[in-house]
Amino acid sequence: MAGRTVLVTGGTTGIGRATAVGLAAMGARIVLTGRDPTRAHGVAEAVQKEARSGPVEGLGADLSRVQGVRALAEALDQVAPRIDVLVNNAGAVFSRYETTPEGLERTWALNVLAPFLLTEILVARAEGARPARVVNVASSAHRGAHLDLDDPGRSARYRGFSAYGQSKLALLLLTYAQAKRYADRHVRVNALHPGFVASRFGRDNPGGFGVGITIAEALFAISPQRGARTSIYLASAGEVGDATGRYFVRCRPSSSSRLSQDAALGERLWARCERDVAAVGPAPASEDA
Ligand SMILES: NC(=O)c1ccc[n+]([C@@H]2O[C@H](COP(=O)([O-])OP(=O)(O)OC[C@H]3O[C@@H](n4cnc5c(N)ncnc54)[C@H](OP(=O)(O)O)[C@@H]3O)[C@@H](O)[C@H]2O)c1
Repeated sequence: MAGRTVLVTGGTTGIGRATAVGLAAMGARIVLTGRDPTRAHGVAEAVQKEARSGPVEGLGADLSRVQGVRALAEALDQVAPRIDVLVNNAGAVFSRYETTPEGLERTWALNVLAPFLLTEILVARAEGARPARVVNVASSAHRGAHLDLDDPGRSARYRGFSAYGQSKLALLLLTYAQAKRYADRHVRVNALHPGFVASRFGRDNPGGFGVGITIAEALFAISPQRGARTSIYLASAGEVGDATGRYFVRCRPSSSSRLSQDAALGERLWARCERDVAAVGPAPASEDA
């Protein structure tokens, strides 16, 4: 990975941090993100030490906001104008319905719109040049989920795990649509399920929801290092350099649900994402996102 730059969103903890360490140790230049810039800088220094690698950069951006995604892209322009591998890893489950200051439901905004928009911006920038990879961290939670494109925020009947399952179904549909759209730009797009991983995932939720996840993780989950293996594999392995539009589990190709492979639904989802992003409006002239 020497000479390659990898952007890992949600690289401050859990699977993303372990992904950053693993790829940094292979010689990649890493840019990792989290919401708080100071924390992201601190984690970047720690990752650099742990991996005994070259410089690791940490950037702060709230990716549940469209303007936060745009601000990250702008900051990247200074720090790392060319990204060879984008790992769309940041994601969360929220037990309670809440909208962002931009009026979007949080799960939809963070788990779907952020990877959609960030990938769009970076692909548009990466004109021609060398092949690039996009790794979307999805989940087996997409199975059994359905997609409500009229009300993706599920404002009428919100349930945390349904909204989460829907968001990961949407990420898979987007993965297959992105793979097709970006094929002639030499951008390879794949998705994965990392396993059930003991991270901070879900723990910050109030009440029994957060406690339940914490206990389940303590009993059944694998380590973040194991959880990061498939992300690292898809970001770096030569044998998957040409793979695109695939879903991987434990570093092997796997089948995602039949619904996730519905290309017409994927196109309607794409249009919905474009509408949601457009509804927020253009980037402000002086960026404060
Ligand atoms: N853990 C599992 O069992 C599991 C299973 C299947 C799939 N996944 C997926 O794996 C990915 C990583 O999860 P994880 O288990 O490592 O979770 P985690 O420990 O909670 O880490 C989540 C990461 O996302 C960042 N993040 C959260 N909200 C953000 C926001 N609004 N803007 C920007 N960054 C934000 C966090 O950074 P800060 O807190 O520093 O902002 C953190 O680095 C997620 O997409 C998750 O859905 C996890």
